Amino acid sequence: MAPELTQTPAARDAALAGQRIVLIGASTGIGFATAKAALAARARVVIAGRSVERLDRAWNALERKVEAFRLDATEEHSMAAFFARMESFDHLGVFVPTAPSAAVRAQLGAFLETPPEAFEAVIRNKFWPQLYAARHGARRIAPGGSLLFVTGQAHRKSLPGYAASATANGATEALVRTLAVELAPVRVNAIAPGLVESNILRTAPEAFRRAASEKVARHPVPRMGTTEETAAGILMLMVNRFATGTVLELDGGMKLT
Ligand SMILES: NC(=O)c1ccc[n+]([C@@H]2O[C@H](COP(=O)([O-])OP(=O)(O)OC[C@H]3O[C@@H](n4cnc5c(N)ncnc54)[C@H](OP(=O)(O)O)[C@@H]3O)[C@@H](O)[C@H]2O)c1
Repeated sequence: MAPELTQTPAARDAALAGQRIVLIGASTGIGFATAKAALAARARVVIAGRSVERLDRAWNALERKVEAFRLDATEEHSMAAFFARMESFDHLGVFVPTAPSAAVRAQLGAFLETPPEAFEAVIRNKFWPQLYAARHGARRIAPGGSLLFVTGQAHRKSLPGYAASATANGATEALVRTLAVELAPVRVNAIAPGLVESNILRTAPEAFRRAASEKVARHPVPRMGTTEETAAGILMLMVNRFATGTVLELDGGMKLT
């Protein structure tokens, strides 16, 4: 593929057509938007998530044109079994969020008040699925294909109350740089979104949502990002064959304020 092929939306879509893309944690949110955009570009898409109901809803919303699998990505044996029955593919993305439940989310806050179990839960939910995906999925990725992790802004912004997310995201980005060298010619990248209007925010407590709205009002782009904007960045990293070891900060300028 010539480099100029990624420079227009039509060329990007042409580069994605026929590619097989596996998206773990894609029944809602950013993963779902990535599946939808990839499908529109005529890619062959596989989505995975825990809830059969959410997967079913996504499968229908994607006009039943994707393969959908139930998977708990925090379980290494499930991840190993998921990839064991999978043919080779081109790109792999992992979208499992930081907190596994509202109960864990409620425990997160000031560092000195956050119990170690909450840290453990966040790292287990956010970091380990990305590591397991790399460990069990990388060998199935075709040369020139890519592995895509999702981090965030907590570790860049030094946000009080976000030490657990910062730890998981920082560890993931360290993995990106090492794996980009070790797994070449497979490319390894990450996207670091700012605040994105998705399930995580929609289901957050009212006080959290209000604080998030006040926060984004101070950003150079004074609004939440959309899942579609984030998906566009992800697909760029997948098709651009010069992108590896790259962390794309797509955050409306959140890191600057
Ligand atoms: N939204 C934001 O503002 C924001 C900002 C920065 C970074 N991020 C990151 O972006 C990624 C996607 O977040 P999102 O906002 O799109 O969240 P979301 O809408 O809640 O989507 C999360 C997806 O992951 C699935 N999932 C959750 N736990 C899973 C598990 N153990 N195994 C497999 N699938 C699982 C969910 O389905 P099930 O629950 O049915 O499994 C769902 O499909 C996350 O890594 C998040 O940390 C988000």
